[in-house]
This record gives sequence, structure tokens and C-alpha cells, in this order.
Amino acid sequence: MILLTGGAGYIGSHTLLELFKSDREVVVIDNFSNSDKSVIQKLEKIANKKITLLEVDICDFNALQQSLQNFPITSVIHFAAKKAVGESVQSPILYYENNVGGLINILKICSDKNIRNFVFSSSCTVYGIPDSSPVTEDFPIQVANSPYGNTKQIGEEILNDYQIAHPQFNYFNLRYFNPIGAHESGLIGDNPNGIPNNLLPYLTKVVFGELKELTVFGGDYNTNDGTCIRDYIHVVDLARAHVLALETLEKNSGEFLPKSINLGTGVGYSVLEVISTFEKTTRKKVTYKIGPKREGDVPAIYANAALAKAILNWECLYNLEEMLQSAWNFQCKQK
Ligand code: UFG
Repeated sequence: MILLTGGAGYIGSHTLLELFKSDREVVVIDNFSNSDKSVIQKLEKIANKKITLLEVDICDFNALQQSLQNFPITSVIHFAAKKAVGESVQSPILYYENNVGGLINILKICSDKNIRNFVFSSSCTVYGIPDSSPVTEDFPIQVANSPYGNTKQIGEEILNDYQIAHPQFNYFNLRYFNPIGAHESGLIGDNPNGIPNNLLPYLTKVVFGELKELTVFGGDYNTNDGTCIRDYIHVVDLARAHVLALETLEKNSGEFLPKSINLGTGVGYSVLEVISTFEKTTRKKVTYKIGPKREGDVPAIYANAALAKAILNWECLYNLEEMLQSAWNFQCKQK
């Protein structure tokens, strides 16, 4: 049985559906701090299956331990974490408590239950401002430029040390680039509580009329059109990678596996390219202005995803048009 923390969140919910497609038994934990309870009913509707859900905060070790005591868990996919860079600068303790404290609690459960397989949600943020792109997994880890980024680096270090002490333990740090898009049903997608920080949920809310205007953060970067370049990846492709990652860990009988794997498409698009592709694909106008740079933004980063192909036999199926169309479909289904 798989423990999926943060299963009601954006990436967690899409991963749950992919796990169900592979007929996996899953217990979901979420405290709904950045998701809505209605996601669970929607997931049950899409999958036509009852979800085993525990409403627990991973920071509460006693509650966590008690609620999981009767579940025969063999693997963990750990999504539950806070992820807003700006908020982490304002509230660093909240981030260390949730992202580092939460991970430690989950690893204590792993130790108690002798759980051997673990997939960790990491981020390309660990590469900081890379000297060049595409980035491979052996690029240097740079000093984190936010408490959020630091929690991902610390998480990777904790897992490294835990694994040394528990040689039977297999894990991957999956380093995500920029997940966007939504499930084909349009029922689940990126729907954070409050005003979104990320480009796509902000953009679709502007086009939908819920927000006034998109501000493009900076127009004079040293890139093709002056705006930042990112590697956008469809959330369903990302979710599929988690199932493959878990299967790879479960099948591993001691052979060498890398610890960190990039998950991106390998292609970078600028913010203005995203806007123009959105307009072309959906035939909707995006109201935007070029504003000041956002502090801490990396000018350009995209992945070399060859390791994911070699180790997980994973490749992206969706292109940017499909990612943007699905994000728009999801937005249109929101009330
Ligand atoms: N952007 C805008 N306007 C907005 C929002 C974003 O122009 O209103 C731009 C950003 O400047 C950036 C791009 O759109 O160039 C993507 O921004 P996001 O906020 O969607 O994503 P980031 O690349 O900033 O963040 C991602 C992950 C974080 C991670 C970070 C590391 O979401 O988890 O990369 O750089 F920490």
C-alpha cells in the first residue's frame, strides 16, 4: 500500500489518478491547508472509486502515527509541503516546520514501519541560478535564495543521511521544473487558495475575468524576448513519472539508482511565448503589462531530462499547446 501525502493538492491529486490507473492501493493524507475538500469527491467521480483519506497534519506526529497504525504501507510519495517562495520569505519558520518537520515525521513513520520506497517532491530550485541550461542532475546545488528553496535542499540532505543509516531504503528526489495544465476531465487542476503566485493559474484567472491584469515580471532579462524562460511540464506527465519512479524503486534489488532525477520537457519557453501560445490555442486575449522583475527569479532554466528517460523510461506526452488548453478548460469549469 502507498502512502500519498498531500493527495488533495495539485500534483498529488493527478498522481492519485495515475496510481489508480495502475490499480495501486493508496491511503491519502491531507490537511487541506492549500486545497479544497471537494477535490476528493471529484477524484472519486473521475476514478469511480472510494478514496481512503486521513485528514491529518503531517506536523502532528502523534496523530500521524495513530492514524496510520493499521495500514500496511510499503511505499511513500511525499508531496505535502508549502510551496510559495514569497510566503516563505515572510514566514520562514512555517516553511521549516511544514517542509522539514513534516518530512522528518514521515521518515519516523518509515522507520517505524520499515518502509523501503520513498519518492520526494523536490524542485529545480535547488540549482539556483544555473550557469547554463539545459541542467543535468550533476549541476551544483547553489545557495538557496528563499527558505522554501532551502527546505528542498535540506529535504534532499535528510534523505541522503537517512538512506545511509537505512541501507534497504530506496528513494528518488524528483526535481520538478514548472508543472502546469490539468486533468482532461477539467475537474481538477491548479487551484490554490487565495491569489495565485504561479504564472498559469494567475493568467487563466485574468482571462476568465477574476483578476484584472497579468504582470509579466521583468522585460529586460538577457533572453530572446527579455522575459524569463522556464521548462513547463504537463502535470499529468509529471504524475505519470511518479508511478514509474515508484515502480522502479520497488523493482530495485540493490542495483545502482541515481538519487535525483529532473522532470521537465527539456524545452524552455519565455513568459511572452507562453502568453502568445495561450492566445493562439484558446483564441482568448490575455491582458498583461510588463512590470518590474520579481526578486529571486531565475532568468532562464530548463531541464536535461535524459536521466528520467534512461532510469524511468519516461517521456513527456503533452506539448505546450495541450498544457495551456487543459489549464484553460479547468479554469472554465470553475464556478
Ligand atoms: N510570472 C510572471 N507573472 C506572474 C507569475 C509568474 O511573469 O504573475 C513569471 C515568473 O517571473 C517566471 C514564470 O512566470 O518567469 C514562472 O513563474 P512561476 O511563479 O509560475 O514559477 P517559478 O519558475 O517562479 O517557480 C518554480 C516553482 C517553484 C520553484 C521555482 C524555482 O513553482 O517551486 O520555480 O525557481 F521554487
